[in-house]
Order: sequence, then structure tokens, then C-alpha cells
Amino acid sequence: MKLIDNFEPENKTFFVTTPIYYPNGKPHIGSVYTTILADFYSRFNKLMNKKTFFTTGTDEHGLKLYRAAKKAGKTPKEYVDEMAEYFKDAWKKFNIDYDRFIRTTDPDHEEAVKHVIEKIYENGYIYPGNYGGWYCVSCETYYNENELIKEGDKYLCPIHRKPVEFMEEETYFFKLSLFKDRILELLKNGLVVPEKYGTGLLSRLNDLKDVSITRTKERVPWGIEFPIDKKFVVYVWFDALINYITSIGYPHNMEKFNMFWPGVHIIGKDILWFHAVIWPAMLLAADLKPPKKILVHGFWTIEGKKMGKSLGNVIYYDELLRYHPDAIRYYLLKTGPIDKDGNFSWEELKEVYKNELSNEIGNLVRRVTLFAKKNYSSITDELDTELLEEIKSHIEKARISVEKFIPSQYTIAALSIFKTINRYFTEKEPWETGDKKAVYNSLVGIEIGSLLLHPIMPEISKKILNSMGVGITPLLEYQKKTFTVKDSPILFPKLD
Ligand code: MSP
Repeated sequence: MKLIDNFEPENKTFFVTTPIYYPNGKPHIGSVYTTILADFYSRFNKLMNKKTFFTTGTDEHGLKLYRAAKKAGKTPKEYVDEMAEYFKDAWKKFNIDYDRFIRTTDPDHEEAVKHVIEKIYENGYIYPGNYGGWYCVSCETYYNENELIKEGDKYLCPIHRKPVEFMEEETYFFKLSLFKDRILELLKNGLVVPEKYGTGLLSRLNDLKDVSITRTKERVPWGIEFPIDKKFVVYVWFDALINYITSIGYPHNMEKFNMFWPGVHIIGKDILWFHAVIWPAMLLAADLKPPKKILVHGFWTIEGKKMGKSLGNVIYYDELLRYHPDAIRYYLLKTGPIDKDGNFSWEELKEVYKNELSNEIGNLVRRVTLFAKKNYSSITDELDTELLEEIKSHIEKARISVEKFIPSQYTIAALSIFKTINRYFTEKEPWETGDKKAVYNSLVGIEIGSLLLHPIMPEISKKILNSMGVGITPLLEYQKKTFTVKDSPILFPKLD
């Protein structure tokens, strides 16, 4: 039986990425959130029978990392080797199923960066010059004076509110200004989702300047050598963006590259300019296609306050792991900021855990599997088509939420299936009536609900399915099964 229409039938493959994170600190709620979003997209597309590829990784060059290593008394390479491990550890603990963990110090990445730069240079889009401007090391970017915050005689970065540094040096420029019309066209055609973030870029495009893409080795000795002139290293953003295509084989495995490119980037709103303006222009300048979509999310505030090291309220990944990782995934996807900023609250997390996960999903699974296990060594019956129609309507809502990048609606749709089954099982009272068909269809509902839940809660959904003697299968078609309930798991134990 068909549960859902073929999802985006024009695409057989799906490529999704997270930003590559600066490893100058442990992963925090912001990077955890972006990575869970990407894992959620990858897993949903897998359920839809797509061949998927998902990359995440670390952005290891540049002045910020160079200084952080110095401060830690390590060489840059020692420092990033050590710090990258925190990211691998976090993603393992949060059940992130990536296909490639890319580090910008990987040899194939260096090769890809050099290749792209040579290509852009041959195409005439790189030229030498001089550059002076205000640089924010935390953003790794130059700002125009009118973008900065003036405080006394100091200029502060608009994002970090830290003093910027004036830097002046010889450099090479990328002719970004030439790509204005093509970028405008892409933005008008829905490159950025939600659209409002794309609209926010338009005014900045009016005065689009060329960008400096090198740093002298003297000042920034830590980076990929600029292949056109060995006095320089490549500017860290120019280097970092290219990771997306390195990870799918560019330039040495063009078969793989063509299979997956263009891909979908998931990012936070603070790095939209680089992804929606500079990156597409770089690709076009190298005769490559621009990305398919850029899905943008807002920022987390913590208990109502902006999150920051100086405020001492950063929530790092290990602290979140007080809860089951899948419970965190559920909570972040349910309440996470997309089109505006959103707030993290331990109290709200506790409520969601108790009311939705423990009471709705956990209790239902426990109740139905206990009953089935006690009364039937294995069970099959006719499908209840009316019930399945209702379940299908929730799946449809989930599908639309993925298309529109509204993950909260997906969590609501998945939870609705469990609510439906809760009501169904209670109304049918099989313990009074001996209605085997009702027990069977409750299990069918739990199975389908768990499949839909899989992109949100991969470990829990597997646990549910395994307790019923089945596993993860694609969601497109439903194949009727016989269940052998072996176990009645307590999925979400009571909190202390
Ligand atoms: N290295 C660059 C990305 C290069 S991609 C080619 C970078 N790294 S980062 O580690 O600073 O940030 C990565 C991500 O974390 C961004 O998507 C950013 O939006 C996200 N977040 C950082 N703080 C955040 C919140 N408080 N809330 C939500 N996400 C936030 O930028």
C-alpha cells in the first residue's frame, strides 16, 4: 500500500551538508542543532529511497585557529587534530550518520582548493591588488566602516561586539562584482529558504565589491598555499567553502561529483552572505553549477539571553547529553529557530520529554507491545484502511514540512500518528473485546509512526521496531508484516 507520493521524483540522489565548524571550542547547541537538521534531512531522503550523501567537518585554517593554537601552546596542526575529535565524538553521541567528516587539512581538500583557484584564475576572475580594511578575527571577514558599531574611539564587529583590527596588505581579489546579476537571479528563484533571509541580502548586493582571497604568509602562516603566488595563503572562507565539493570527489572523482552536485546546504543565518553570494559566484567562476538550496536557520537564545562565551551561558554538547540524544534531537527539531530566533529552556525540554515522549510515545509503545506479547506469540490480520488513511494524512504533512523547511511541523505530524493510535487502542478496548484486528493495526500504526520518527529519533525508532520483530524499511510503500513482539521497552525512563 502506498503511504506517500514519490518525494521529489525528479531527484534520485540527495546531497546535504552542514557548515564546517571552527574547532576552537567544543560543539555547542548551535552546531549540534545545524548538524541534527542535516542528519534529519539525510535520513528522511534515505527513507524516500534516495541515494544520499551527507558531509560535515571542521574548518581548520585561518587567523582565528592560528591564534587559538598559540594560546594553547600547541602547533596549529596539533591543536586542530585534538579539537576535531570533540566534533567526531559529539556526532557519534548524537547519532549523526554522516558519510564524510571533512577537515580542511585533508590532502584531497588542499588539492581541490588549488584546482578551483587555478580554474577561476584561468577564467580571468582573479587579479592582484592592495587591500585595507577592518577585520574581525572571530568572523574571519572584513567589514565596511558603516557596518561596524562605534564605541568611543573603537569600532566593534556587529556580530561579536569585539574590536576589529585594521589590516592593510597586498592581496589577490576575486571579481565577485561581475556576478551580481546572476546572484540576484538565483535569489529571486528561491535559492534561499526561508525566502526572507534571501530578501535581506538584496540591499547589500547593490554595492557588491570584489573580495580579497589571500593573506600574506607573514601575517597568517597557517593555510593552504595560494597556487598562483607562493607568498600567500588562501583566505580561510575561500578555502572552507570548497569543502562541499571536495567531499563528493571534486576534481578527481567527477562521476561521484556529478551524481551528487548540486547539493543542499544547511547553515545558520550569520553565514548566509558567504553561502548565498560568494559561494555561488565562486562556483560559476569555476564553470560549476550553483547549490540547489540553502536552508537557513535562526539563532538559539538560552533561557531568554543571547548565547556567548563572555556571558558564560554557552551550552556545550556534553551538557545536553543529560538527556537521551534522541530526546534532544526531538526537542531541538520541535522548538528550534528557523525563520526567527528561538529560545532554549531546560524547563520546556523537561515538559516535552514528559508529555510528548514519555507519556504519548513511550506509554503507547509499552502498553501495546505488553498486551500483544502476552496474548499473541505472533500476530497478523487485515489492515484497517480507515486508520491507514488517517496515518497517511499525517505523513503527507510531514512530507510538506520537509519541502518547506519547517521541522517543527514534522515532529507534530510524527507525534500525531502516536496520538491517533493511542486513541484507537483505547477506543477499541481489545482487552475487553479480544479484537485481534485492533491490536494488529495498533502495531501497524506504531511501526509506521516509528518509521516517520526515524529521521528525528534514529535510535529510539529502531528500538521500537526491533521490539516488534521488524526493522527500518523505506516509507514509500507499506508491506504488510507479521509481528513477533519480543520486548516491551521503556523508551523514556522517568527523570530524577
Ligand atoms: N567555519 C565557519 C563555516 C564555514 S562553512 C564553509 C563557521 N563556523 S562556526 O563554527 O562559527 O559556526 C557554525 C554554525 O554554528 C553556523 O551555522 C552558525 O550559525 C551556528 N551557530 C553558532 N551559534 C549559534 C546559535 N546561538 N544558534 C544557532 N546556531 C548558531 O561559521
